[in-house]
Order: sequence, then C-alpha cells, then structure tokens
Amino acid sequence: MDAERSSSETPPGPRGLPIVGADPAMILGRLDFRTRVAREYGDYVHWQGMRGPVYQFNHPDDIEHVLVQNNQNYVKGESFQQILEPLTGNGILNSHGEEWRRNRRLIQPAFHPERIEVYAGMMTGFTEGMCRTWSDGETRLIHDDMMELTLQIVAKALFGVDVEDHLAEIGAALDAYLPASSSLANVILPKAIPLPSRRKMRDARDTLDGIVDEIIQERRRNPGDDVVSKLLFAEDGGHELSEQQIHDEVITLLTAGHETTAVSMTYTIYLLSQHPRVERQLVAELDEVLGERTPEMGDLPGLSYTERVIKESMRLFPPVPIIVREAVEPDTIGGYSVPAGATVYASQWVVHRDSRWYDDALAFRPERWTDELEASLPRLAYFPFAAGPRRCIGDRFAMLEARLILATMYQNYHLELRSDRNIEVIPTVTSRPKEDVVMAVHER
Ligand code: HEM
Repeated sequence: MDAERSSSETPPGPRGLPIVGADPAMILGRLDFRTRVAREYGDYVHWQGMRGPVYQFNHPDDIEHVLVQNNQNYVKGESFQQILEPLTGNGILNSHGEEWRRNRRLIQPAFHPERIEVYAGMMTGFTEGMCRTWSDGETRLIHDDMMELTLQIVAKALFGVDVEDHLAEIGAALDAYLPASSSLANVILPKAIPLPSRRKMRDARDTLDGIVDEIIQERRRNPGDDVVSKLLFAEDGGHELSEQQIHDEVITLLTAGHETTAVSMTYTIYLLSQHPRVERQLVAELDEVLGERTPEMGDLPGLSYTERVIKESMRLFPPVPIIVREAVEPDTIGGYSVPAGATVYASQWVVHRDSRWYDDALAFRPERWTDELEASLPRLAYFPFAAGPRRCIGDRFAMLEARLILATMYQNYHLELRSDRNIEVIPTVTSRPKEDVVMAVHER
C-alpha cells in the first residue's frame, strides 16, 4: 500500500470509449484484458464503465481487504446480479445480509466434514459407472462427461435423487444460459430492455425450473436426510420457507455444485495429457497407495501428489476466474479512494499467474506445492474458492470429489488429447473451455 498517495487520485487504466467506457474491451477481451491491464498498470487499475467507476485490484493484500477484512462493504452488486440472478434468484449465492445468513445457516450442515465423508462412496461409484461406459480406444467429449458426472454426484449427494434422465436437458440449458448471461449486451444494457440473449436465459431457466420442481416434489413425497427435505421442514422465524425460496436454493446448489468441479476436472485432464511425467508420477502414487482398490476417505492422506496436481491445475485454470463486488460506502485502497457504488474486480486468473508469487508461473508443476511455498505466499495469492464469509460453501466437497474422481479415472484409464492443444477459455461465471475437448480413452 502507498500511504503517501493522496486519496483523491484515481489509479491508472485503459481509457475506453464515450458512454460505454472500457466495458466492451473488458468483455470482448476476456481474461487477456484482465491480464494486460494488470501487467500494464500494476496493482491498482481503474476504468470508466457503463455503470460508473470500475477498479481491478491485483495485489493479494488488497484482495484480502475486499473479501475478508472489509467484506461488509463489498456486496454482490448489479454486475453480479445481472449475470446470475435470473438463474439462481435469491438463493445463497446472490442474497445479502440477514437473508444470506439464514440461507448459509440452513445449508451449512450438508457440508459438515462428517457429512461429506458419506458422499465419498457416491463420488467413486458414479466415476466407476462412467468408466464402465467407456470402451478402450474410443474418443470422448471429456468436458461433457465431466459435467454429467459432477451433476449426478451433486444431485445424489445433496438431494438424494438420480438425475440420469435429465442430464442432456440440464447440460443444454447451461450451455445456453452461461454464454448469453455474460454477453456484452446483457452485461451493459439495463435489465428492462428485451434482448435475444435474455430470451435464451429465460428459456434455460424455464427448463431448469421444471426439473427442480420435480426434485422438490419427490422429496416432499419421500422426505429423507438431504438438503431439500431439510429446507422443506426448516423454520425461519416461525415460518416455513416459501416455495420460491426453496426453489432458488435448490437451483443454486445444482448449478454452483457441478459446473465448477467439472471445469476443474477438464483442465486437470488436459494438463495431464500435456505433461506425461506428471501423469506417470500420479499413476505411480495410485498404484502404490491403492493398487486396484477403489479409493476411500482413509486413502486421501496418502494421495498427496494427487492433491497437488489438482491444486496446481486450479492455479493455472481457476474454475471461477474473476470475482466481482460493489462498494457500499467509500473506501481507500492502496491510497486511492474507491467511491460508493464502484464496481470492484479481483481475478484469480491474474493473481495465480503472477510471477511475483510463483516461479515460472505459467508452467504446470504440481511439486511446487510444498509447505515452504504455502508459508511464503501472501494469503490471497491463491484463492480458487474465494475467501472471507462468502467463501465457497462447497470447497471441501469439491476437493474431495476432485481427488476421488481423478484417482478412480487414472487407475483405469490413460487419456490422450485429440483436439487442439491450445484450449481457449470463455470466462462466463466459470472458465469453460470454448471448444469441445476431445480425448481418446485407453484402458491401463
Ligand atoms: C472446484 C470447484 C469449485 C470452485 C472453484 C468454487 C468456487 C467458488 C467461488 C470462487 C465462490 C465465491 C463466489 C463469489 O463470492 O463471487 C463460490 C461460492 C459458492 N459455491 Fe463454490 N466452487 C466449487 C465447487 C462448489 C460445490 C461442489 C458446491 C456445492 C455442492 C459449491 C457451492 C457454492 C455456493 C452455494 C456458493 C455461494 C456461497 C455464499 O455466497 O455463501 N461450490 N464457489
């Protein structure tokens, strides 16, 4: 932080166009824009956007200030809501204040470490099921496989339901929704204006609404030990939750709980296909710890290289590449004043690839994750799951799932990339690959 700087100064940054400012460059330039402005202007970047001043902070300490120390001043404002609210309504991801606290309190027990252990068998069971449908030498669209796998896992673990019959519908709805919601027109134009992208978003939401209603009805008929049943019988200040509230929570968990993990698995598989030495070391660990046994919770402490592979993959390809907040009150960061209403960005993509924190930052080197590295890093130099009170509620679930999926898959298969080596990332809410990732699967 530069204490000498007058707090009336504005950080440097791109100038942009009249009225729309640098927003089009930001949206069309995607992650390259984020990286370029960080490298060109430094830790504090400012530009004028359609909705007013925009800041991108690139130093881990300032990001910690926004997400942790002064988190109550940084809410999920209009830029966040414009993209996600039409899908996830007022569920835990979007809500604020008391309503968010209630949502988090109701959902948290499903993510208790003891509860999560119960999910391990489902995670390996579905992965083995997927592997059984593969035949030696065939080619697969691996991201589609990962989306279906993680969707089945989250639906079974959290809601106690099988969604096998709806996999294609849910996949198509998200394929339509996510790019439309992050399109230039949706992001910069006021909500009231009808747009083709908004029509696509509504149609996708209608499809998902139907499926979520079915899940809720099923749990109403046969309540169990799952999140939906808990929400159905929860009391909030003496009242039951409304149908809409329950609906919004279920759709939030269904979507937030699978796309991110699928993205992280796809990039991990891609990186392994490009780094045979790392794959050999991973398989050697699996052979030594598991042999031909299905992995279980108790095996995880022995699978430390597997965990480092996933950590390193989420460093280079963070499934959520950017976090956005809106300042409630004026604040001062790095000696610069941040006015109330300003949009504030922090990008995992930019920070995780910054050579100040990581040697040879663009190289995939799982072995870099030593205790010494972790102790030397600023806290927010690695934040795939965000930080502070709005940190991902599913972080443990996701790390358990990623390790078990990877271990089960690589015990049985070697995957060989058949599509383009240069994967282009589309930063919607997540870092989805733009094109199909085609892999040939070979039995070990
Ligand atoms: C590799 C996998 C995952 C990554 C990288 C990830 C990342 C994130 C990030 C960065 C946030 C914060 C977003 C923000 O504040 O703007 C978040 C929030 C959230 N995530 Fe995850 N997530 C993952 C998996 C999961 C899973 C498996 C679930 C549920 C089963 C889940 C449920 C949620 C929910 C409900 C929130 C909102 C929490 C709140 O606002 O209180 N996530 N996630």
